[in-house]
Formats: sequence, structure tokens, C-alpha cells
Amino acid sequence: MKIKIAYFSGTGCTELVANNLNREFLGRGHLSECFKVTNNPSIDNDIDLLVICFVVHACNAPEPVLNWAKSLKTVESTKVVIISVSGGGEVTPNLSCREPLKRILMKRGFNPFYETMIIMPSNWIVPTKHEVSKKLLEVLPSKLSYIVNDLESGKINLTKPLLGNRILTFLGKLEHLGAPYFGKKIKVDQNCNSCGICVSKCPVSNISIVEKYPTFANKCVLCLNCIYSCPQKSLKPGIMKFVVISQGFNLKQIIKSDSLDWDIDYNRDLKGLTWKGVKQYLLEDIN
Ligand SMILES: Cc1cc2nc3c(=O)[nH]c(=O)nc-3n(C[C@H](O)[C@H](O)[C@H](O)COP(=O)(O)O)c2cc1C
Repeated sequence: MKIKIAYFSGTGCTELVANNLNREFLGRGHLSECFKVTNNPSIDNDIDLLVICFVVHACNAPEPVLNWAKSLKTVESTKVVIISVSGGGEVTPNLSCREPLKRILMKRGFNPFYETMIIMPSNWIVPTKHEVSKKLLEVLPSKLSYIVNDLESGKINLTKPLLGNRILTFLGKLEHLGAPYFGKKIKVDQNCNSCGICVSKCPVSNISIVEKYPTFANKCVLCLNCIYSCPQKSLKPGIMKFVVISQGFNLKQIIKSDSLDWDIDYNRDLKGLTWKGVKQYLLEDIN
């Protein structure tokens, strides 16, 4: 198959999913290419499959994903796979997170026929326990391999979220409205050494160095990558401080850190509603 994978990632989790999926397709002899949606990949009728991977933000796709989909020219039923990547999994309030994107794509003649959720470490509010994060990374290749098996066998996998979840996703749009304001309010302290890492890490090119300090334009999507990537820890949220994990978030460090030599205890480490989806996802992999 000739495949294009378009993705949007904040702190690298979705990028890892997209790159691993690309490798899986290539390994099975497909012609596959991976792009960031912010590079505006064009989608022609000559591809067999379009895969869109996006990070779930407030039960929805981030605005750059929806805007890119709106900019696509009409096609004749190009097949689409949608993979959402979240910290919480396929549970309320995430169940409707792919619906707005699906609707936009269908209006342009695309045929979304397979949708699923991949869980990666949480980069907001409540961090995923280290041993659980390691397990999520460990099961990623097999989860992607199952997805490719499904696609090769022509399986259809579509969900129909209930009204309550659709409302939650609709309310999540408020994040799109508030995100630019969050960016504008990020504070830079005197430890900033103008290294420009925040500029290069911002997926929407919202940051520039003006008179030695990072300055934020109006395009912030609240991915938190600038805050977590700052080597000086100079960037601090001015509002909605609760969304930022106080000890930071660094996917590369999680990947590099030692593997665990003990098994996670599902009842102890994934207790409560917050981790219900993660528990379900990891147990599915065992069974
Ligand atoms: C602003 C924001 C909102 C988020 N909203 C959700 C959410 O609604 N549901 C969820 O399960 N995870 C949510 N997350 C967590 C991310 O989806 C998750 O950590 C993901 O692995 C990050 O992917 P990335 O590294 O590609 O950005 C949110 C993260 C951020 C920063």
C-alpha cells in the first residue's frame, strides 16, 4: 500500500507513535511516509491510505490538526485511519475525541474506516507512574503491530460515542480559545540564557527571541513542550498552573531510564477512574 502518515505531537509521544507505525509499515513492504501536519502535507488521490495521528488535548484534536484537515482538497473516498494518542485512553471523557476530525474529513470525501487510541505517558495534570510509563512504551510495538494486522486484513473499526461524550468534546473546544492566552501569559525568569531551545521545540512556531527573551505570539496550542524543554527551567505558566506537571515531563528520559525488573501491580499502580483506561489497555495486551 502507498501510505501517508500525518501527525501532530506536543512533547514527542505522538511523534514516537507515528515514527514506529511508519517503521512497521515499511518493515512489511508498504510504501510509507511520515509528515507533521504543520508541514502541510498535501493528500492526493493516488495514495491507498492516509493515517492521522494526533495528541488528545481536552478530549479533542489540537486546532492545527483540524485546520490542516479543513485545508485539504476534496478527494474520492481516500481511506483514512485515525489514531488518537492520550494519557487516559479510550474512556470518558476521551470517547468522542476523533469525531470533529472525522466529520471534517468526511465532508471532504475521505473515508475514515478505522479509528483507535494509543496510550502514552501523561504530560499534563497527573503524571503517569514511572513503571506504568515504561510498560506503555514496552507494549507500543505490539499495539501498532495489531493495528497494521487489522488494516492489512481490511477490518473496519468505527466508534459511535454517546451524546454525553460528544458534549465533553464540544466543551473541550474552550481549550482552543484559551490556549493563545495561556501562551501569552507564560513567564520567563532571569535564568533564561536565550538558548532558543523553546523556539525550536514549539510545534506551531509561536515563540521568537526578542531582546534576549522568548516572546509568545497568539498561536499557542498549550502543548507544554516549551515549558518542559527549557534546560534552565525558566518558563513558568502564568495561568492554569495546574496543567503543568511540577517535576516536568521528558519522554526521552523516560525511554532512557532503566527498565524495571518487577511487574506492575494493576490494582495498586492503576487505581481509580483516572487510570481505568490505562489498566484496560495494558490488560488487553496481556490477554
Ligand atoms: C493541554 C493538554 C490537554 C490534554 N488533554 C487530555 C485529555 O483530554 N485526555 C487525555 O487522556 N490526555 C490528555 N492530555 C495528555 C496527552 O494526551 C498525553 O500525555 C500524550 O501522551 C501527549 O502526547 P504528545 O507528547 O504527542 O504531546 C492532555 C495534555 C495536554 C498538554
